[in-house]
Parts: sequence; C-alpha cells; structure tokens
Amino acid sequence: MRLSESERDRLFTRYGPWAIVTGASSGIGKCIADVLAAAGFNLVICARNQQALDSLADHYRETYRNDTLVHAADLSLMEGVLSLTAFVRDLDIGLFVHAAGYGTSGLFRNADINLEQNMLQLNCMSTLQLTHHFSRTFADRKRGGIVLLSSIVAFQGVPNAAHYAATKAYVQSLAEGLFRELKPLGVDVLSAAPGPVESGFGQRARVHMRSAMKPEDIAAPILRALGRGSTVFPGRLTKTLVFGLWTVPRWAKVRIMEKVMGDMTRQGK
Ligand SMILES: NC(=O)c1ccc[n+]([C@@H]2O[C@H](COP(=O)([O-])OP(=O)(O)OC[C@H]3O[C@@H](n4cnc5c(N)ncnc54)[C@H](OP(=O)(O)O)[C@@H]3O)[C@@H](O)[C@H]2O)c1
Repeated sequence: MRLSESERDRLFTRYGPWAIVTGASSGIGKCIADVLAAAGFNLVICARNQQALDSLADHYRETYRNDTLVHAADLSLMEGVLSLTAFVRDLDIGLFVHAAGYGTSGLFRNADINLEQNMLQLNCMSTLQLTHHFSRTFADRKRGGIVLLSSIVAFQGVPNAAHYAATKAYVQSLAEGLFRELKPLGVDVLSAAPGPVESGFGQRARVHMRSAMKPEDIAAPILRALGRGSTVFPGRLTKTLVFGLWTVPRWAKVRIMEKVMGDMTRQGK
C-alpha cells in the first residue's frame, strides 16, 4: 500500500527532512522506512543486523537518491541507546519511529527470566529513553512526530504471553499520555497497535499465526494516521479483531486471548 502524493508532501513538510527508524532491518520497521524513503525523507536506520541495514541503505540511495545513514546497535543496552542519540546529534531529525521490539510466549512461570528482562529493556526501557530524548528535541524545534509500536495485546492481559502484553500496555499508555502533552508543542505522537503481522516476530516469539497481515500493508496506514489521533489499528484484520471485541468486558477479553494465544503457542495450560 502506497501513500498518495499529497500525503507524502504532508508527512515531509510536517516531519522532514530526517527520520529515524529503529527495527528497520525487517518487518514493520523496514516497510515504514521504505515508505518514508519513497516520500523523500533522509533516513537513519537502526537495528543490530549491520549487513541488512547496509543493503537497505544502498537500495534507498540508488532508488530515491536520498541520504541514508546506518547505525547498528543493540537497543536493549543503555550503551546502544546512547550511541544512537549521539549518532544523530547533528542531524535535523523530525520523525522518530520506534519499531525495534520482540515478543515472548508461553507460561510466565516457565520463562527464562534473562530473556524477559532483555525484552523489557528493549520494548520499554529503550522506548522510555529514546522517546524522552526526542520529546525534548522536537518540543525545542516546535515540530516533530513520534510513532511507537504497541499491539492489540496491549488492551487486556494475555495469558501465555503475559509479559509481552504488559510491555505493550506500557507503550500504549505512554503514547496516549504523550499525545495530549506534546500536541500543544507541535509534536504528534502515535501508538500503532497492529494485530498479527507476518515478519520475524512470529519465529522469535514462537507463535504460529493462522492468519496475518503483511507488513507492507500496514506501513502506509500507520504513517497516514500520524497527526490525526493517538492510536491507529492498522489493517483490516486488526480492525476486525479490535472492533469485533469492542463491547466485550475486559475480563472476558482476557479469557478470549487465553484461548487464542494458547492455540498460537500450542502450550495451552
Ligand atoms: N508481527 C506482529 O504480529 C506484531 C503485532 C503487533 C506489534 N508488533 C510489534 O511491532 C514491532 C516490530 O516487529 P516486527 O513484526 O516488525 O518484527 P521483526 O520483523 O522481528 O522486526 C523487529 C525489528 O527489531 C529489531 N530488533 C530486535 N531486537 C533488537 C535489539 N536488541 N536492538 C535493536 N534492534 C532490535 C530487529 O532487527 P535486528 O534483529 O537486526 O536487531 C528488527 O529490525 C515490535 O515492537 C513488535 O512487538 C508486531
């Protein structure tokens, strides 16, 4: 799915000339970077896989003649986050998209606590540090956009992925609060809360998705929603899942998610 020319102009005028996209080596982050490169943004792309980022940067420079810089870093580490903010210090960044993240699944009591802590560092701590940094920078320049990756699992507890869902509840709540705080300062904040998407996510989280959207189908809808509300549910499947359960009480949604996630992880009880 592509953006119209007027939408590309709107994004570039409000949030250009430079954007930073984390998690750009694959999946949703990569597809968002694709759309931004096509809209004329200069990009800083970040993830751990230097090779994937380098070939993406070559592709953008050749295809769109833009400036793309690569910064490989592990954002679950404080030094990775600090190296990224130092790397972009002299660039006129107006848009921050934080798509680096991953999930875990299975029964919480059986989880590897080191892995859960690492996920917390990446999904929440790096979100805190980077969003704080760019909130201040964008407020000072009186213009900017912040896109955080939440999920449909953020809106209720999810047995069999309890901790992952909790990390996304953190992201969702932060984005909703900051949407109101930063709006008067010219800074737009958006939480993107997709349903299942085909990407590297499923394998890493060890979940099997029966039906899923393609990341390229949700990238443009996410960017289109920036500046138009605090949360987007991108893609038809996401909307079906979210609005289909809209009137269901939260306690009942937890039970539904227990069944769904139990099937997806084949670990059930
Ligand atoms: N796929 C879904 O069903 C789904 C649904 C809702 C929300 N989400 C959320 O969407 C975001 C993007 O996920 P995705 O579906 O695009 O998965 P993905 O294809 O696995 O992409 C994840 C990205 O994060 C990067 N990353 C992982 N660990 C990192 C680390 N320690 N430091 C820096 N970068 C790291 C990965 O690159 P490297 O491996 O090169 O570091 C990759 O670029 C995540 O926050 C996820 O929770 C996904």
